[in-house]
Amino acid sequence: MKISHRIPVIAAIVLGGALMSSQAAADASRSAVLASTCFACHGTDGKSPGSIPSIYGYPAEVMEMQLRTFRDGTRAATVMDRHAKGYTDEEIGMIAKYLSQIK
Ligand code: HEC
Repeated sequence: MKISHRIPVIAAIVLGGALMSSQAAADASRSAVLASTCFACHGTDGKSPGSIPSIYGYPAEVMEMQLRTFRDGTRAATVMDRHAKGYTDEEIGMIAKYLSQIK
């Protein structure tokens, strides 16, 4: 009865995988919620239809740097300086990564 000994091992691997992917899914949906606050002004998925710049597809480091300079006031802005102040470093990282993955 070799197979029955393996079942708990297989179950543990499957369960472990499921737990990890649900954590990844939670992070992904948090990133999506954070980034969706940008889309009211910058267009759906950051693809702007108007005069406000599009914000999708930038390398994550570039987007992160832009949001930090808005937040600390080194980059002049009308809106973004105030908007960027609402996010922690971790959240800025999540938003930047999410936007970088939009094609
Ligand atoms: C209330 C409207 C509004 C919201 C919400 C908003 N933005 Fe902006 N964003 C602007 C405007 C307006 C500008 C032009 C700079 C300025 O005047 O503040 C801008 C500029 C930018 C720029 C500079 C783009 C470039 O190419 O120069 C980036 C990057 C940016 N926003 C990212 C974001 C991100 C990321 C979010 C969400 C976390 C966000 N914005 C949310 C209005 C908004």
